[in-house]
Amino acid sequence: MTALPSPARKAAIDLLDAVLGQGRALSETGGLVQALDPADRAAAQRLALDVLRGLDRADRLLKPLLHKRPAGRTLNILRLGAVELARGGAAHGVVSDCVNIAAAGRKTNGFKGLVNAVLRKLATSAAQDWDRLPVPQLPRWLRAPLVEAWGRKPVAAMERAHFAGAPLDLTARDDPHRLAADLGGTVMPTGSVRLHAAGQVSALPGFDTGAWWVQDAAAALPARLFGDVADKSVLDMCAAPGGKTLQLAAMGARVTALDLSAHRLARVEENLSRTGLTARLVEGDALTHDGRYDAILLDAPCSATGTIRRHPDLPHARQGERIAELIALQEAMLDHALGLLAPGGRLVFATCSLLPDEGECHAEAVVQRVPGLRALPVTLPGVAPDWHAPEGGLRLRPDYWAEQGGMDGFYMLCLQKD
Ligand SMILES: C[S@@+](CC[C@H](N)C(=O)[O-])C[C@H]1O[C@@H](n2cnc3c(N)ncnc32)[C@H](O)[C@@H]1O
Repeated sequence: MTALPSPARKAAIDLLDAVLGQGRALSETGGLVQALDPADRAAAQRLALDVLRGLDRADRLLKPLLHKRPAGRTLNILRLGAVELARGGAAHGVVSDCVNIAAAGRKTNGFKGLVNAVLRKLATSAAQDWDRLPVPQLPRWLRAPLVEAWGRKPVAAMERAHFAGAPLDLTARDDPHRLAADLGGTVMPTGSVRLHAAGQVSALPGFDTGAWWVQDAAAALPARLFGDVADKSVLDMCAAPGGKTLQLAAMGARVTALDLSAHRLARVEENLSRTGLTARLVEGDALTHDGRYDAILLDAPCSATGTIRRHPDLPHARQGERIAELIALQEAMLDHALGLLAPGGRLVFATCSLLPDEGECHAEAVVQRVPGLRALPVTLPGVAPDWHAPEGGLRLRPDYWAEQGGMDGFYMLCLQKD
């Protein structure tokens, strides 16, 4: 009888199969790890993320040892084993678990000998070879348009940032300096608090009292572009899970948080109640929502290609097939939002995308299309001169602040209507 492999390793391979075999994003795979205890669930997710970040290196380690590349799950078992061995995993545990996982599957059972032989060979060499291998490149569907937009060197720098992963960024409800001192973090130039070795988020001091919320430093900037919103009516048009709603509420705005997804709005509600902040929650469609607002934040649904540091599954799960549809939706949302804006009101448009079609191109087109609309210059503390985009917005990239852990890729723009 074969021994049972660690539940975390087996679940990590299930997650890899879902992303690489079925094109599912990791955020859609909760059901696969639901039955695990929290520590195993976290370990499985961490392992799957490590393999996805290092996928290209794993394949390079495996290539010379395979006459023919095996399909599907067998390949994912080998990839996981290769990455764990390269990152210093104990050879005996890794190899025997991978062999047992192969033995347990109808389609993989015939390959358990191969898994054993290949991983045993890698056990002696993977750790030394790993650091000599090139930084993994983005898949071609995304790399090609990014190289066209930003050039080869910047894209290589973005790939280094993706491979390095991301620290934990927090937005303080009150004073970031006091929060940084309490948690041993660093206040970044734009005011976010960064932690490099955070561990379990809900165990950090101040979680229960709502002294902060998790929010990437780049994602914390769109809400700040409005300036003073105290007592103003602000529509957060695509609000969930609510990071920007919390910021606007903490700035004293009367916030309406709208989202299409009831399930995701429940996260906004949880976050509001944890932090003791208030907003009016509305489940509904941004394209048909009605009302009049002093300010509107449109953090539109997008390819999320700016978040690959934390979500290395995205470029593998997707092939860019929905991007044209998303661009059309962003434009329709932008036009509808402008119709809800009071005269003199401000609209901030943002997407966490690296593709100019989801950012700069909308900015250029909307000021041509809509009379009486202008882009406001950005004046925020900590914003570096090279983040300013020619048409008036901010272009943020994962390779900015590279030495301090990077930031999410974002485009954001503040518009004012006559
Ligand atoms: C980029 S996320 C928003 C992140 C959020 N602003 C934050 O800071 O936490 C985009 C959101 O748009 C919502 N959404 C997608 N289509 C929508 C629509 N037609 N109307 C309203 N919300 C929509 C999604 O449910 C998702 O929560």
